[in-house]
Amino acid sequence: MSKIIDISNTWHTLSQRCLYSKTRPLDIHAAVSQTDQMRFHENSAAYSWTNEPLGDLKYLTDYRGKTGLVVAGSGDQPVVFRQLGSAKILVFDISQQAIMWTEFKDVCVQLLTRRQLIHLALEIPETLQEKARHDKLYRVVRHNITEPSRRFFDTILSKKASLPALLVDGEFFRGNDHPFIRDFLPYMFDDNAYFAARQGLLASEMRVVWLDLIQILTATKREIFDYIYLSNIFDRWHLFGIDLNHIMPMLRHALAKHEEAIIICHIDPKFLSSTQGQFVRESVAASAAQARLKFNNHCRATREYWTISHS
Ligand SMILES: C[S@@+](CC[C@H](N)C(=O)[O-])C[C@H]1O[C@@H](n2cnc3c(N)ncnc32)[C@H](O)[C@@H]1O
Repeated sequence: MSKIIDISNTWHTLSQRCLYSKTRPLDIHAAVSQTDQMRFHENSAAYSWTNEPLGDLKYLTDYRGKTGLVVAGSGDQPVVFRQLGSAKILVFDISQQAIMWTEFKDVCVQLLTRRQLIHLALEIPETLQEKARHDKLYRVVRHNITEPSRRFFDTILSKKASLPALLVDGEFFRGNDHPFIRDFLPYMFDDNAYFAARQGLLASEMRVVWLDLIQILTATKREIFDYIYLSNIFDRWHLFGIDLNHIMPMLRHALAKHEEAIIICHIDPKFLSSTQGQFVRESVAASAAQARLKFNNHCRATREYWTISHS
């Protein structure tokens, strides 16, 4: 991308299709099979399901009516933030697979029942009858995603035959390492939770863009967000040349100036207890302080999340 177009305060007024054309169009020809699961890049395999206890997010702040900037990850986080009452979220990710999967999951929760979603995404069809049922559900979803995402799913499904198989094969999705864990997914707990999530989706706006963190902060530099969710993007920042001292001031600028405004990061407790994990924690805390932000340790209720707020 040569020139980054400013989408501040306009992204939610544009259709998803138009937003892609203004930011960065999905490019399914570049969506090649991936085997390197250590790195994140423009075509890295998407997380099929979250590996974070997303139920804990509710302890961090009140999301009702708020605007969030959210990294897509497995696409579950955008659903949960809207289940928790967010009014508008802008979702970004360095990986276009993650973006397309987020679109797909969003439509599933809006249009399928919980049982149908389980069937489509988790149960490999074994009989012709089950295959026909799968195809029927897939048609409902494909009809409601953008054209490039539809082409992507059509193409890879024509090779793999079923979505549950695709989600665990490690080529485009990381379900082999990150399986479905119902306890991590507040919208999948039961039918009531699922219905609440659907209501949240219907009552809010979501747009997704295929941009990395620096690019999205640049593209929205005249806009502020009540919360910014970064998952564990910072875990391996030192390996990929992410300059925390460059990012922190940008994050500070993007974060609304009220007391509840927070940046939310995830860290795996196992990683945190390692030497490298400690190094990451100290580095994030130090660059936050340098940017006049306050680093808040995990609290008991949310062992895996830390936050950064205005000091
Ligand atoms: C860090 S991963 C971890 C997965 C996450 N714990 C979950 O439950 O989905 C979350 C997402 O961050 C994306 N990502 C990593 N580095 C990024 C960057 N610099 N800018 C934008 N997205 C990034 C990855 O593509 C991935 O989809």
